[in-house]
Amino acid sequence: MNLKDTEKKYGAFSKLLHWGVALTIVGMFALGYWMRTLDYYSKWYMKAPHIHESVGLLLFIVVPIFLFWRLKNQNPDDSYLKPYEKLTSGLMKIALYVLMIALLISGYLISTAGDTPVALFNWIELPALITVNESKVLIGNIHQYMAYFIILLAIIHALAAFKHHFIDKDKTLSRMLPFVKIK
Ligand code: HEM
Repeated sequence: MNLKDTEKKYGAFSKLLHWGVALTIVGMFALGYWMRTLDYYSKWYMKAPHIHESVGLLLFIVVPIFLFWRLKNQNPDDSYLKPYEKLTSGLMKIALYVLMIALLISGYLISTAGDTPVALFNWIELPALITVNESKVLIGNIHQYMAYFIILLAIIHALAAFKHHFIDKDKTLSRMLPFVKIK
């Protein structure tokens, strides 16, 4: 098993980061959506945002590692793609990275808007290093709409991967899947 990406396929570390981040983002979306429906008397009213905030902080470490690792590594060969596919897939990857980082920053700013620290589970508290004068509600709305947008893009991105796999029958999806041998 290759740790690094090669011309043929993504390596184990990129796959781990991609699927870890993808599943976490979908989970964070579901958690964020659900926690906004809770009322004050629910036992999850305080717990759910605490988990959402803590996992968001972990993503703050993992997403830059994902981006850095990919920038430092080789891009798997995409010469079999049509020019418009190369362009759209490149733009989609940039949009996903930019949105992930923007979501993390806006999430951090919601937590610190009241000048309160952000807790990483019950282990450590990070001080409010950056605070803005905007209201929590405004930043919260921006964060929420960006979350809807990244999920929409992720659905389009997944549909494109399935189109490559089932219609074009090429290696685009297979080389991102674990335990699949690429010839
Ligand atoms: C929230 C969910 C997701 C996010 C944020 C996400 C993000 C990304 C990013 C940033 C890349 C680019 C990696 C690079 O730097 O080369 C990528 C590649 C890829 N993703 Fe996702 N992804 C998500 C979900 C999915 C799903 C559900 C599938 C398939 C069912 C998928 C299939 C792929 C494939 C096949 C590639 C490689 C594309 C290529 O070789 O050009 N992703 N993803």
